[in-house]
Amino acid sequence: MSLFVVDPQKCGREGMCVAVCPLGIIKLKGQNSVPVPSDKAEDLCVNCGHCVAVCPGGALTHKNMRPEQCFPIQKERVIKPEQIRHFLCARRSIRVYKEQPVKRELLAGLIDIARFAPSGHNRQPVKWLVIYNSDEVQRLAGLVADWMRFMLKEEPKMSKEMHMDHVIGKWEAGSDIICRNAPHLIIAHAPATERTAPAACTIAMTYLELAAVSFGLGTCWAGFFNAAATLWPPLQQSLGLPDGHVGFGAMMVGYPKFQYHRIPLRNEPQITWHI
Ligand SMILES: Cc1cc2nc3c(=O)[nH]c(=O)nc-3n(C[C@H](O)[C@H](O)[C@H](O)COP(=O)(O)O)c2cc1C
Repeated sequence: MSLFVVDPQKCGREGMCVAVCPLGIIKLKGQNSVPVPSDKAEDLCVNCGHCVAVCPGGALTHKNMRPEQCFPIQKERVIKPEQIRHFLCARRSIRVYKEQPVKRELLAGLIDIARFAPSGHNRQPVKWLVIYNSDEVQRLAGLVADWMRFMLKEEPKMSKEMHMDHVIGKWEAGSDIICRNAPHLIIAHAPATERTAPAACTIAMTYLELAAVSFGLGTCWAGFFNAAATLWPPLQQSLGLPDGHVGFGAMMVGYPKFQYHRIPLRNEPQITWHI
């Protein structure tokens, strides 16, 4: 099969697929002709599926994506601006969790949403590691504490700037401000050499974090954990990421113990307009 085929009966010849294709590899041969792939289309296509998704009549079948496989967009479900503003502004980083575990299917469902996050060239490089067992989360947090003790000896100035002395003091007093006693930890990882990976992992994690709110879940980025995961061999060994992979983000997940009642203030945006 060529890169895609178009059903001439269903095609409205409006050229929307031509217009939206990110690499401009769909062309109309002449007036009233159906779209066809241009030269080198096979090599250049990023499999984003926009050609399939934009076609009102479902006329275009991509060799890797048939219109019947693609979930229809329900226009009545589009969120209103005031809803999205409230939703995004009301999300909080959650630092106190219930002990109650989150069902694995629910965590898998969050990841299933996060895979729709954008990625450069649609490369979708993000892979996921879920530390499901809460005792294991605590054990790993202990390895982060070991890393901090090491760092405080080796790089005291930088470590103190990052408040590691304070974190260790709390840890030794029995308070976990590394993983906040969260029951679960989700790590987004990808090959270290993949150029699109840092942004893709960050955006996918952000999708996951936002989706979590709608399921009554709380999340918090685990920045100390992620730093240790990229630098501290005992933690790297415990995580056992595939060869050449790096964690680009770690997220605590669980049910929030407390609800928030107002949206805290944030800095005014600083915008430069070039008009
Ligand atoms: C990359 C990143 C790393 C973070 N790491 C931590 C962390 O290790 N521990 C923590 O309690 N919060 C962490 N946070 C959460 C921020 O402190 C939080 O987003 C900020 O205080 C604003 O609060 P809000 O998310 O409720 O708006 C991190 C956030 C980001 C984006």
